[in-house]
Amino acid sequence: MQTLKEKVILITGANRGIGKSLVKASLEKGAKKIYATSRDVNKMPNFGDKRIETLALDITDNTQILEIAKNTKDVNVLINNAGILSYGNILKGEISMLEDDMRVNYYGTVNMMRAFAPVLEQNTPARIINIASIVAYSPLASIAGYSASKTALYSATLSVRTELEKKGITVHAVNPGAIDTDMNKGSDWDMPAPDGIAKIILDKVEVGELDIVPDVMGLEMYNTWKEEPSRLAEMFSKMYHGE
Ligand SMILES: NC(=O)c1ccc[n+]([C@@H]2O[C@H](COP(=O)([O-])OP(=O)(O)OC[C@H]3O[C@@H](n4cnc5c(N)ncnc54)[C@H](OP(=O)(O)O)[C@@H]3O)[C@@H](O)[C@H]2O)c1
Repeated sequence: MQTLKEKVILITGANRGIGKSLVKASLEKGAKKIYATSRDVNKMPNFGDKRIETLALDITDNTQILEIAKNTKDVNVLINNAGILSYGNILKGEISMLEDDMRVNYYGTVNMMRAFAPVLEQNTPARIINIASIVAYSPLASIAGYSASKTALYSATLSVRTELEKKGITVHAVNPGAIDTDMNKGSDWDMPAPDGIAKIILDKVEVGELDIVPDVMGLEMYNTWKEEPSRLAEMFSKMYHGE
């Protein structure tokens, strides 16, 4: 088992939600150093631990990504957590929102992997952990742009897994169901808190699980899809039509 103890971990979108919880869980795992990044460092909570260095990083800014990669040459675990969710379907949704989802969730994360792969190659054994979503397996039409961006991200994650598998870098995909963060503000679903989910994600990373579904609701959806993909599509269709 390759634990996260003494690892140098970089986390995107670390100021709130699952990212913030991943910082706390990484500290508990005994990480040597954590680069906690966010668009605005003034929004970063005080984690009260000297192992944390906060850095400004907007993953849609490739110049900033390359600069950070140049200055954090000791990273051996990259956690791509930053993401956005826009509401809207494919036919009537705002096209700019479909583009926003792709720009952040797909191209932003792809650019992170491209910039950090050479760094990670120097620091093996290394890992990339990409937070995609359960909708990577089957789209939810009310968040169609988000779903497409996460399916694209999951696909890129699988490609990079193959590209790096002989280079000492393990690439994990994390596909959660609904978690209780700002992203689901206003939802009346019964959702797990991000702190517990972050711990489960890192436990599963440590035992080498490649495709991680960390929550009960997500696992039910994943198992439905695994049994018969059209059954999850049917479940999501019913949700879309409010049946
Ligand atoms: N919550 C869920 O149910 C759920 C389920 C499946 C997957 N996920 C995925 O889990 C990840 C974390 O989501 P969350 O639930 O914790 O959402 P959240 O509370 O809304 O947090 C999103 C984080 O991403 C950051 N971010 C957004 N755009 C960014 C950009 N261009 N560059 C850098 N950081 C950016 C945000 O920073 P600001 O504070 O600056 O906006 C924030 O830190 C996302 O990738 C999301 O898609 C969430």
